[in-house]
Amino acid sequence: LVLILDYGSQYTHLITRRIRQLSVLSLCVSGTNSLDSIAKLNPRVVILSGGPHSVHAPGAPSFPDGFLEYAEENGVFVLGICYGMQLIVQKLGGVVDVGEKQEYGKMEIAVEGEWGLYGAEAAGGHQVVWMSHGDEAVKLPEGFTVVARSLQGSVAAIENRSRRLYGLQYHPEVYGDNDVTHSPRGMETLRHFLLDVCGISADWKMQDVLEEEVKVIKGMVGPDEHVICALSGGVDSTVAATLVHKAIGDRLHCVFVDNGLLRYKERERVMSTFESELHLPVTCVDASEQFLNKLKGVKDPEMKRKIIGHEFICIFDQFATELEKILGNKPTFLVQGTLYPDVIESCPPPGSGMTHSHTIKSHHNVGGLPKDMKLKLIEPLKFLFKDEVRKLGCILNVPESFLKRHPFPGPGLAVRVLGDVTEGNALEILRQVDEIFIQAIKEAGLYDSIWQAFAVFLPVQSVGVQGDQRTHSHVVALRAITSEDGMTADWYYFDHKFLIDVVRKICNNVRGVNRVCQDITSKPPATVEWE
Ligand code: XMP
Repeated sequence: LVLILDYGSQYTHLITRRIRQLSVLSLCVSGTNSLDSIAKLNPRVVILSGGPHSVHAPGAPSFPDGFLEYAEENGVFVLGICYGMQLIVQKLGGVVDVGEKQEYGKMEIAVEGEWGLYGAEAAGGHQVVWMSHGDEAVKLPEGFTVVARSLQGSVAAIENRSRRLYGLQYHPEVYGDNDVTHSPRGMETLRHFLLDVCGISADWKMQDVLEEEVKVIKGMVGPDEHVICALSGGVDSTVAATLVHKAIGDRLHCVFVDNGLLRYKERERVMSTFESELHLPVTCVDASEQFLNKLKGVKDPEMKRKIIGHEFICIFDQFATELEKILGNKPTFLVQGTLYPDVIESCPPPGSGMTHSHTIKSHHNVGGLPKDMKLKLIEPLKFLFKDEVRKLGCILNVPESFLKRHPFPGPGLAVRVLGDVTEGNALEILRQVDEIFIQAIKEAGLYDSIWQAFAVFLPVQSVGVQGDQRTHSHVVALRAITSEDGMTADWYYFDHKFLIDVVRKICNNVRGVNRVCQDITSKPPATVEWE
C-alpha cells in the first residue's frame, strides 16, 4: 500500500490517481491522523502531500510525533512533495525559508546524477516540472543530498537513501496527455521511485478490489440481516447494488425513488432497463410531491442538497418499515454508491480518517446524512474513482448501457434549476431542453466522448423576438465537459453547426425559452454542476 497523507493540496487526489494508474494500491487519509491509525494500514510507502500552508504558520498541519522514527524502524519509504518535503526538512533540523524567488508554474530543473528519485534515463538531464511554492529548503538536514535543482538554483529534489527519505519540491503528479506544460516526466519519476527504488509490485487489480469488497460485505452483514439499496439508474448505484447482490444475494432489496427531480421520462426508462437488463428486483416509489413540497421556496444550494439528502433517508426508512412487514425483519443496512471524489470534496468530519480538503459541496450521499439515521451504511465504492467503478462494473457484467451513462447528481435537477425549483414551470422547461440537447449529442455520435452533458435553468428572463412578437422569456445554459474523474474538467468543444442546430431546436420547441447560452468554464474555477 502507498499511503498519502493529505495536507490540503488541490493536487492530492491526483497523486492517488497517478499511483493507481501504475497498478499500485494507494489511499489518501488526513495528514494529521494518529501514528496508530497510520501504522494500522501498514504502508510500504508514505507520501506527504503538498498543501497551502507554510510550515512556519501557527497550527500548520504535520505528521504525528514519532512518524519518521516509525518509518525508519519499519523500513517504510517516505516521499514528501512540496509542503511535504518542507515538513521533512524542518522536522529533521534543516531550514525552510521564504524563497528569494517564489516559483509558480512551469520550471526547468537539472537532475544532478542517477539517484533514488531518478533512473538512468533522467540522470544528468533537464526536465520541465510544475512548481507551486513560496517557501523553500535553504539548508538540508544532515545526511541529505540535493539531487535536482531548478535553473534558478533552488532545491528541487533531495534524498537520504540510507534513511529512505525523499523529497520533491515540485509536483510530479500534475500532468496530462494534453497538458504538456505541467510535469511531463512526473509519471516516470513516480514509477521509478515506487517500483524500482521502493520495490513495490505493480499488481493491484480490480478483481482484487471485487474479492476484497465481497469479503468485507459478507463480514459486515449478519446471516439474518437485510440490506436496502437506492438505485438511480446511474453507474455508481448500479455497480454498488450488483456488488452487494453478489455478496449477500436476495437479502438485498432495491428501491428507485422518483423525487420529482428526474429528467425527461427518466422513471419509465430506468425502470424498464432495470427489468430487461439488470435482473435485480426493484421497487419504484413515487415521492415527488414529498420532495417538491419540502423544497418550496428554498433557494440556497446547500440547503437544497441537505433537504434532499434528508428526504431520501426518510423514504429509505419508510421502505425498510414496509419490508419489515413482509420479511419479519427490518433491514439494517443501506447501500450507497458514494465515490472517492464525493468523500474528498465533502470534507468529512475530523476523526473520520478521511482527507481534509476544503468543503466545496455537500454531496448528498456524504455530507447531508442526518446524524440520527438508523440504517448503517455500506459504501463499497468509496475508495474508487469513476473510471475504476466502470472497470469494476465490467468485471461484474453490468450492461454497457449503465456503465456508459453520464453521471447524474443525487439531488437531480434541483442543482440545475438555480434558485427555487418549484417556481413556475422551471422543471418542465429544463426537462425539455435537456432532452433535446442529449438526443442531439447521441444522434451526432458524441455521447461517449463527453463525460457529462446537461442543461441548466437560469432564474432570469430576457427579451427576445419570436414570430414577430416581443417575448420576455427564460434563459437556459448548456454544459458539456470532458473529465477523468469529475474532480477537474474541461469544457467540450462542439462544432458550430451542432450548436446552431441545437439552439434552433430548443427555441422552436420549448415554450418559454428565448435564449440559450453555452457554459465554457472549466473546473476549476467552476464546478461541474451550477449549484
Ligand atoms: P461538481 O459539481 O461537484 O460535480 O463539480 C462533480 C461530479 O459529481 C456530480 N455531483 C454529485 N453526485 N451527489 C452525487 O451523487 C451529489 O450531490 C452531486 N453533486 C455533484 C456531478 O454531476 C459531477 O459528475
